[in-house]
Amino acid sequence: MDANLAKPVSASAIQNHTYKIFPNDLNSKETVFGGLVMAISDRIASVVAEKHSEARTCVTAEVDSMHFLAPAQRGDTLVFYASINRSWNSSMEIGVKVFAENFHLKTKKHIVSAYFLFVALDEHNCPIKVPKVIPETDAEQRRYHEAGARRERRQAERKEKQTKDAEIKSGIK
Ligand SMILES: CC(C)(COP(=O)(O)OP(=O)(O)OC[C@H]1O[C@@H](n2cnc3c(N)ncnc32)[C@H](O)[C@@H]1OP(=O)(O)O)[C@@H](O)C(=O)NCCC(=O)NCCS
Repeated sequence: MDANLAKPVSASAIQNHTYKIFPNDLNSKETVFGGLVMAISDRIASVVAEKHSEARTCVTAEVDSMHFLAPAQRGDTLVFYASINRSWNSSMEIGVKVFAENFHLKTKKHIVSAYFLFVALDEHNCPIKVPKVIPETDAEQRRYHEAGARRERRQAERKEKQTKDAEIKSGIK
C-alpha cells in the first residue's frame, strides 16, 4: 500500500443499516438482547475497517465503552450508523451509533454508542499499515480529535495494567 494513502470518512461509512426485531431477539423483559446489538455493531464496524484498509483482514482488538442508553422494544427496527473516526499505524477507531425506530408510533430513539478498535493484518497475521483518515465535515473533525484523546487514555491504561501485571508476576505486590 502507498504509505501516504489517505481516504475520506465517507468512503467507508455505513448509513441506515436496518435490522427488524423479531420475538426471538427479545429477553425475558421483552426488550432486545444486548448481545445481539453488540454482535451486529461489531460486524458492521468490521466492514468499515475492511473498506478503509483496502480489504485487509481486520480483527477487533478492543471495544471502548459500549453504552446502552435505552432499551429497544418488540416492534422496533434497529438502525445502525458506523464510520471511521481515526486511524494510526495498523489500528482504526470505528464509531457505531444505533437507533431503535418504531414506524407505527413514529418514534426514533438513540439506544447505543460505542467505539470499536480494529487492527489490519497481513497474510502472516502481522499488523500492517492502513490509510490515514481525511475528516471532511465539522462532526468528522471533532470525532477525529476526540479519538486522539481516547487513544492516549487507552494507551495509558494498557501501560498501567502491564506495570501492575509485571509487579504481580515478580512478587512485588
Ligand atoms: C489485536 C492484535 C492483532 C494486536 O497484536 P499485537 O501483537 O499486540 O500488536 P502490536 O502490539 O504490534 O500493536 C498493533 C496495533 O494494535 C493496537 N492494539 C493492540 N492491542 C490493542 C488493544 N487492546 N486495544 C486497542 N488497540 C490495540 C496497537 O495500539 C497497535 O496500533 P497501531 O499500529 O495503530 O499503533 C492481537 O492482540 C490479536 O490478534 N488479538 C486477537 C484479535 C481477535 O481475535 N479478535 C476477535 C476476538 S473474538
